[in-house]
Order: sequence, then C-alpha cells, then structure tokens
Amino acid sequence: MKIIYFSVTGQTRRFIKKLGPTVDATEIDPVDPLFMVNEPFVLIVPTYEDEITYPVTEFLEYANNAASLKGIVGTGNRNFAELFIFTAKNLAKKFNVPVLYSFEFNGTPTDVQNFKEAVNKLES
Ligand SMILES: Cc1cc2nc3c(=O)[nH]c(=O)nc-3n(C[C@H](O)[C@H](O)[C@H](O)COP(=O)(O)O)c2cc1C
Repeated sequence: MKIIYFSVTGQTRRFIKKLGPTVDATEIDPVDPLFMVNEPFVLIVPTYEDEITYPVTEFLEYANNAASLKGIVGTGNRNFAELFIFTAKNLAKKFNVPVLYSFEFNGTPTDVQNFKEAVNKLES
C-alpha cells in the first residue's frame, strides 16, 4: 500500500525510514502540496494547529485523492492529553475514513510492527 505523509520537524519522516527500503512513501511538500495519487494509500499525519497541517487538507481535496484514501495514522505527543492526534481524528471524520493507528513521535519498533499489521489487514 502506498503511504503519503506530512512532516514538520522530521519525526514522521524518521518513522517512514524505519519501515525499510522497499516502502512506497511520498511526502507532502507544504509549498507545493497538489499532486495526484491514482492508487489506494494510507496517510500518516503529525498533529499541529490546522493552519500548519492545511497543506494535507489541500492535498486530500485535490483531484480524486480523497477517493483513494483508505485510512489515517496519527503521530503526536500524549502530553497533549485530549488533543492527542486531533489532526488525524479531524481528517478521518472529514474524509470519512478510519483512524488505523496512532503513535508518539517517530514510533517504537512495536509501532512499526503494529503499523505494518494494520496496513496488511486493510489489504486483505
Ligand atoms: C508546536 C507543536 C504543537 C503540537 N501539538 C500537538 C497536539 O496538539 N497534539 C499532539 O498529539 N501532538 C502535538 N504535537 C506533537 C507532534 O505532533 C509530534 O511530535 C509529531 O510526532 C511531530 O511529527 P513531525 O516531526 O513529523 O512533524 C505538537 C508539536 C509541536 C512542536
């Protein structure tokens, strides 16, 4: 499954690297977020105020991208308590897809394993 992700301080990018060299992942560029994805994909998004993650919304609203979105994974910081992964939750609601998984920062080896299992389940 293709992965599309956004990263502001590099934690999500580090998580992507942990998935190994064969992963098919594309980062959303905040300056130029509009590109078309014509295959099913999972979105991994960090948590920030809406203004910062707006390029992700722009990307999802572009062309038919939302139709290919299968689910969202949130990365955040549990110190934010009830605001933990609110970006992923809000986007999931807006685009009517499930939150597949969540983790903190760049993820632990267990998070890598759980993420892979969640994506595999989606594909089966
Ligand atoms: C200014 C700022 C605000 C943040 N707000 C939240 C938040 O409301 N909820 C949350 O779960 N994490 C929050 N985080 C944590 C980040 O979403 C988390 O560290 C994430 O892994 C960062 O991913 P990135 O480095 O790929 O951008 C915040 C981080 C920063 C620096």
